Amino acid sequence: MPDRPVYLDYAATTPTDPRVVEAMLPYFTEVFGNPNSLYTLGREAMRAHEDARERVAASIGAGRPDEVIFTSGGTESDNTAIIGLATVGGRSSGHLVVSAFEHHAVLDPASWLCTRGFEITELKPRANGVIHPDDLAAAMRDDTVLVSVMHGNNEIGTLQPLAELAVVAHERGALLHTDAAQTVGKVPFDVRALGVDAATLTGHKFYAPKGTGALYVREGLPLMPYLMGGGQERKRRSGTQNVAGSVALATALELMDAERAEEAPRLAALRDRIASFILATVTDVRVNGADAPERLPHIVNLAFSGVSGEDILLRLDHAGFEVATGSACQSGSPEPSYVLLAIGCPRDLALGAVRVSLGRYTTEEDIERFLPALVDVVTHLRRWNA
Ligand SMILES: Cc1ncc(COP(=O)(O)O)c(C=O)c1O
Repeated sequence: MPDRPVYLDYAATTPTDPRVVEAMLPYFTEVFGNPNSLYTLGREAMRAHEDARERVAASIGAGRPDEVIFTSGGTESDNTAIIGLATVGGRSSGHLVVSAFEHHAVLDPASWLCTRGFEITELKPRANGVIHPDDLAAAMRDDTVLVSVMHGNNEIGTLQPLAELAVVAHERGALLHTDAAQTVGKVPFDVRALGVDAATLTGHKFYAPKGTGALYVREGLPLMPYLMGGGQERKRRSGTQNVAGSVALATALELMDAERAEEAPRLAALRDRIASFILATVTDVRVNGADAPERLPHIVNLAFSGVSGEDILLRLDHAGFEVATGSACQSGSPEPSYVLLAIGCPRDLALGAVRVSLGRYTTEEDIERFLPALVDVVTHLRRWNA
């Protein structure tokens, strides 16, 4: 067993890049002033925060820096977008459309709105893991106020045709929010080219620390603030700004942008190597999301029949490899992932699914060591279960 486990769960979180840590350090100890203070130290901190806002806005193609609101991450950005856009102006009813395989940070506030007078349609992706614009068009109603479809799915890595979905939403007078937590930095993401009205970013998926993030809200769109208090972030998100965090977010994003042309094909090749090796070596296995026209380069979801994903995870952990499973264990009996069920993955296969996700520090050698270990684990468990 290697000294340190091989980490293959970058879609869960990433280590903070040392270059990002370096960029943050002065804002803990030297330029530590409250950015709302009017004296020099406060103004310096505010300058760094506003500079970070400009850099994030430039990276995502926003027309103006103040379209970017710094938040504590994906969950806060999603909650703010769903509740803040739906309830703006005191609105207490209307129709929302969300895709059925959204993260719970979108599904749960949407369900909460349902208990407060809104109605919701959960839009199923097709078997290839993609939300089809025709299906969205069929789900739209005259009173639809907001559509939320994630840019890239966190379990199967399929990318959604956001530009086409935005046209459909806008034709019916609704807004389009996208949860881009898994995609920003990893594939080109330009809010104006895609035509989205709001977008969620979270730093810990792209080598900034946990607890950093942003919400893009198109210029002029009113937003009901989710956090109220001191009126920071132009009254849209109160709370003393996390200056080191916003500097980290901007720095990490710029590094992703600078390195993507080399990094994305490198990761996609490793992803494809995993899928083709497993399909050629193991029977009764399915690669979820493989038929989508566009996919994230770093996620591969493998579903094995006759075994439990959790057993695979635990045995791989013992062998020194860290992967994820989409199933949730409730009162001792694992439930298959709702994402996999939504794309029509049979229950038996969904229960045996593992997500392997790659990143900046994954090497070819890691993958060549991982593949025989995975085959061994699955073979062993199947023999055991037979
Ligand atoms: C698609 C998606 N949305 C939202 C989140 C939540 O982000 P955070 O952990 O920053 O709250 C995650 C994280 O797992 C995610 O994958």
